[in-house]
Amino acid sequence: MNRSIINKALRPFGTTIFTEINAIAKTYNAVNLSQGAPDFDGPDYIKAKAAECIMRGPNQYIASEGIVELRRAIAHKMKRFYDVDVDTEKEITVTSGATEGLYATMMGILEPGDEVILLEPFYDTYPPVAALANANVRYVTLRGPQFELPEKELAAAFSPKTRAIVINNPQNPCGKVFTREELAYIGFLCEKYDAFAIGDEVYEHLVFDGKNHVTLMSIPELRERAFVISSTAKTFSMTGWKIGYVLASPELTKAVRMSHQFITFCGQSALQEAMAFAIDLPDTFYTELLDTYNRKRMFLFEGLKEAGLNVYLPEGAYYVMADIRSLGFEEDSTFCRMLPEKAGVAAIPASYFWKDRTMGKEYVRFCFCKTDETLKEGILRLKRFFE
Ligand SMILES: Cc1ncc(COP(=O)(O)O)c(C=O)c1O
Repeated sequence: MNRSIINKALRPFGTTIFTEINAIAKTYNAVNLSQGAPDFDGPDYIKAKAAECIMRGPNQYIASEGIVELRRAIAHKMKRFYDVDVDTEKEITVTSGATEGLYATMMGILEPGDEVILLEPFYDTYPPVAALANANVRYVTLRGPQFELPEKELAAAFSPKTRAIVINNPQNPCGKVFTREELAYIGFLCEKYDAFAIGDEVYEHLVFDGKNHVTLMSIPELRERAFVISSTAKTFSMTGWKIGYVLASPELTKAVRMSHQFITFCGQSALQEAMAFAIDLPDTFYTELLDTYNRKRMFLFEGLKEAGLNVYLPEGAYYVMADIRSLGFEEDSTFCRMLPEKAGVAAIPASYFWKDRTMGKEYVRFCFCKTDETLKEGILRLKRFFE
């Protein structure tokens, strides 16, 4: 066959760094602190609910936008945590994880030649999805260690061609939590240029140190311009269930549903029912989740510091960024490809979250969504190796 098989838009991306590092980790039986999936499951009573729903049935296709019980629970949650009113019928679309939510949204609104602004470091799904929609990406860099929003550069990136900006809040990989002022400024620019804001808020319940998550839905300038995407994966430690959703005003929701119906048509009935039950859990579930993750955050942060790495305390999500120059290393990829074999630990080279990979090459991302035993063993091995 003379023609290339892979779609031209996808060719630059190759296999993800997560797949590659996971394979190396497996080869050396390393403690895997790379991919953001817990090595423990969410509560058994949520699983029992799903099992009960499967046994009771029906197990057939459901409404494309998701079962009403789950949409109701999501609307209730938005009121309960953020005092935002969301219409169960017209403003919520359940998707196969946030990943499909992002895809359905971008495919629903982008046309060839449209510009999408991405803040880097970015979650790795955004550029290929924009490429599949034939949109052009403009990158605006958040610089460590504080990763503040560079307002002037952001304003310069907006133009009449801008169709959307993607904001990951709290942010993976750097743990940044956007302030209301920063989001309001983004809202101001979106209004000025008649653009949409796509919020990826999958870590919304992991915001530390008494700070509050600010959803794009609560920014007045963005209420009618935002697509807020979230997921049950991180909050309920069931990443394999792939239950996410998109919140948007009725007109915007039409665009999401239009593409969603041709991507997966609908999600998984029993798992959606179990997640409706989970989202409605009392506040104690959410506070305990935050307490547990805060303990893990501090443990990994202190441990990496004691191992000799220069680390930054994240404000949100479940990752810690470490600067490897403090240990005499220069380049994250070489470091992360060596680490599983030499130290028995796996982490992600953070430059993969930048377009210009020279930008993040001093950073390595470790995740703390792991059992205490895994984290202890990981830190022990790192200390032993760096000594
Ligand atoms: C920022 C961000 N968005 C989206 C996802 C994917 O979410 P889901 O598993 O619900 O598709 C992840 C998973 O790591 C993530 O970190």
